[in-house]
Amino acid sequence: MKKLVEILPNKQTLIERSLALMLEKIQTALRERGQCTLALSGGSTPKPLYEALAEQSLPWEKIHIFWGDERYVPADHPDSNERMARQAWLDRIDIPAANIHPMPTGANDPIKDAQSYEAELQQFFGVAAGEFPALDIILLGMGDDGHTASLFPKTDALQVCDRLITVGNKDGQPRITFTIPLINRANCIIFLVAGESKRPALAQIFSSSGDAIAYPSRFVQPQGELWWLLDFAAGEELEGRE
Ligand code: 6PG
Repeated sequence: MKKLVEILPNKQTLIERSLALMLEKIQTALRERGQCTLALSGGSTPKPLYEALAEQSLPWEKIHIFWGDERYVPADHPDSNERMARQAWLDRIDIPAANIHPMPTGANDPIKDAQSYEAELQQFFGVAAGEFPALDIILLGMGDDGHTASLFPKTDALQVCDRLITVGNKDGQPRITFTIPLINRANCIIFLVAGESKRPALAQIFSSSGDAIAYPSRFVQPQGELWWLLDFAAGEELEGRE
């Protein structure tokens, strides 16, 4: 694993840097594999990045969009990660509908929807049960509690190591989420973290020892590159740390 940490002065420069890094990694995937598979994070931090991506001129027909997690709500619900990404970005570019792979939330059964998404990824990547495909880029956020995707502290989802997709649990509310082994197969992971409220969890995650069950972002140790892009408000105390 190659871990790289960059601390940017503020949210605007953080978004500018994350755009440049995303474009670089998308171009690498297109050059090396003729396509790019990209999983999006939800939450509020990445929205301006998605808006900036909507302004880019890229071969969208060669780019496939997945989600690393989704709230268990309809796609038109205000809390939907899919809805946010479509409004900020995907509805504004000329990308084939078939290239957008949202997490299903319509079965009224999170386990069934998780199984459906797993089957969709297995079919898309041509992998058998038990095999984990390597996405080119997985974009992740981190909650104040140190969760990432919908892998929340002290939840059962953290123990799931034989599936691609599982059901997360936020205060009793179901989520659909990538599992830790699927995340860690990625060629490139980019954490995008901003704001002072993230400092305590970042201190735990960057400490030489700590409890990953309590701070699940510690589980993210990919085979490929691990980028942490932080604004100063979040990362001040990590200056010079790897
Ligand atoms: C979600 C996200 C989640 C998010 C963090 C940070 O569905 O909410 O995938 O993991 O990235 O909670 O959220 P903010 O960017 O809003 O701080």
